[in-house]
Amino acid sequence: PAEVVPQAPEDPLFGLMRAYKADESPNKVDLGIGAYRDDNAKPWVLPVVKKADEILRNDPEANHEYLPIAGLASLTSKAAELLLGTSAPALAEKRTASVQTISGTGAVHLGALFLAKFYKIQGANRTVYVSNPTWANHHQIFTNVGLPIATYPYFNKETKGLDFEGMKAALAAAPDGSVILLHACAHNPTGVDPTPEQWRELVSLMRAKKHFPFFDTAYQGFASGDLDRDAGAIRLFVEEGFELVIAQSFAKNFGLYGERAGCFHYVASPSADAAELTTRVASQLAILQRSEISNPPIYGARIASIVLNDSALFAEWQENLRTMSGRIIDMRKQLRGKLEELGTPGTWNHITDQIGMFSFTGLNETQVLKLRTDYHIYMTKNGRVSMAGLNTRNVGYVAAAIDKVVRE
Ligand code: LMR
Repeated sequence: PAEVVPQAPEDPLFGLMRAYKADESPNKVDLGIGAYRDDNAKPWVLPVVKKADEILRNDPEANHEYLPIAGLASLTSKAAELLLGTSAPALAEKRTASVQTISGTGAVHLGALFLAKFYKIQGANRTVYVSNPTWANHHQIFTNVGLPIATYPYFNKETKGLDFEGMKAALAAAPDGSVILLHACAHNPTGVDPTPEQWRELVSLMRAKKHFPFFDTAYQGFASGDLDRDAGAIRLFVEEGFELVIAQSFAKNFGLYGERAGCFHYVASPSADAAELTTRVASQLAILQRSEISNPPIYGARIASIVLNDSALFAEWQENLRTMSGRIIDMRKQLRGKLEELGTPGTWNHITDQIGMFSFTGLNETQVLKLRTDYHIYMTKNGRVSMAGLNTRNVGYVAAAIDKVVRE
């Protein structure tokens, strides 16, 4: 069968990472993948994760047995609380089903698979609407399970902020009952989020259109530095009674990238039979999970669970999150300040207006490629910068290089 298999292109993001690693320049700067780096451009193992690891190592009960199909219950229950709030009626009313997944990618995939199998019974439109732009992987995850993709406008190139009018017009024009993928906070790749007022408008619009929200949350704690506030959009939709799903990643906020810890959550609308519907959904998610991965990986799940179930460690985790988000905010200020000092043509306020891991700089593909070949600075072709790749040593070099390519 290989004769009919065409050569696929390399994944752009991991291809970029490979090119960066192969670059021997001492000046090279990695602004590619969305992974936190400390001020020495090194991966940062969160101190709280080190502590949890120590606890795990000393646990005489720990072994390498299989987890249940739905994963580690002490993780999934706390993961749901983290998103919905500990006193959420949806939890008390048993309207939520949570399944541990292969991080955020696995959660989006499980949700996509579930919708591909069951969303048709509502006779609704099966197209999934994603923001333009969105995390590149969204496109292939949904199309791989046979769900067509359409986009809604999101980024305003002039203001480098939200194209809220464009977004609303597209959601209003989409057929009733469409699946709408929303980034809960710290939008990837733009770093632009709706305001609380705009989220409320989206609630009204999506309710009128009977749209189905599919939240992706990979940066809780990175947007505002506050876990509750970063879950605000999800909580609003749940409080407003929407039936919805959530893909949750612990890769970034725990720094557990390679451990693949995450969860998928289903939330039913309040109704007399909501708990029963939820049990049925959970039973189907278990079937899908079993056929895909049987059961999820245990190590990262235990680390996150230890932290989420201990109030002192939880407080320390919040402190670690503030360290990461605080350093990123500082780098935003420094990059903007240096570009403004240099008088680099254009406006640069969007660098500090945007939030989370990324800044959508507005640099075009030619400029991005020039930065790569001439200055050994690596960012994705759409001009997205992973802010955590900047540090006190390289931010001046990066600003000077951006200044040069913008002037050319
Ligand atoms: C990113 O967008 O850089 C991260 O989410 C990593 C990934 O898997 O794409």
